[in-house]
Amino acid sequence: MSWLICLLLSPSLWASDAMPATPSAATADAERGRKLLLARNDTGCLLCHQASGLKDGGEMGPSLKDVGTRLSPEQIRQRIADPRVLNPQTFMPAYFSTKGLHNVAKPLQGKTVLTEQALEDIIAYLLKNPP
Ligand code: HEC
Repeated sequence: MSWLICLLLSPSLWASDAMPATPSAATADAERGRKLLLARNDTGCLLCHQASGLKDGGEMGPSLKDVGTRLSPEQIRQRIADPRVLNPQTFMPAYFSTKGLHNVAKPLQGKTVLTEQALEDIIAYLLKNPP
């Protein structure tokens, strides 16, 4: 019986590892996603990551080159939207969440870093995994 209680109390069972597609997934565009990944002063993804078909990625985070073979689209979405759900200590920013942020400049309060469409566009590019 105690194993069952342990299982039910296990945070990994309840932490959401996967985020379902948003309505903007229907209009996702990998080419827009490519441009967003390249926007160093905007998304900054390549400061920390390598990605397929893109030069000069960083190495502070795992390579995203074949991320689609390791993770489901829902798992990728969760990691971009709010990686703190999986690792509260992560230094990757939460790109689609407004929870738990401090000292946010007034004009940016209540806004996510990425729009819902931008989130889906980036996922479309990562799943396409060009050479
Ligand atoms: C400041 C560095 C940094 C930036 C900027 C950053 N990431 Fe990350 N990312 C990380 C780290 C570190 C991890 C590993 C997860 C952890 O910390 O637990 C990660 C993990 C991921 C993962 C999961 C990969 C895997 O194999 O598990 C994805 C997908 C991802 N990042 C996508 C992105 C995208 C897309 C952007 C831009 C919108 C971005 N990241 C920006 C540092 C960063």
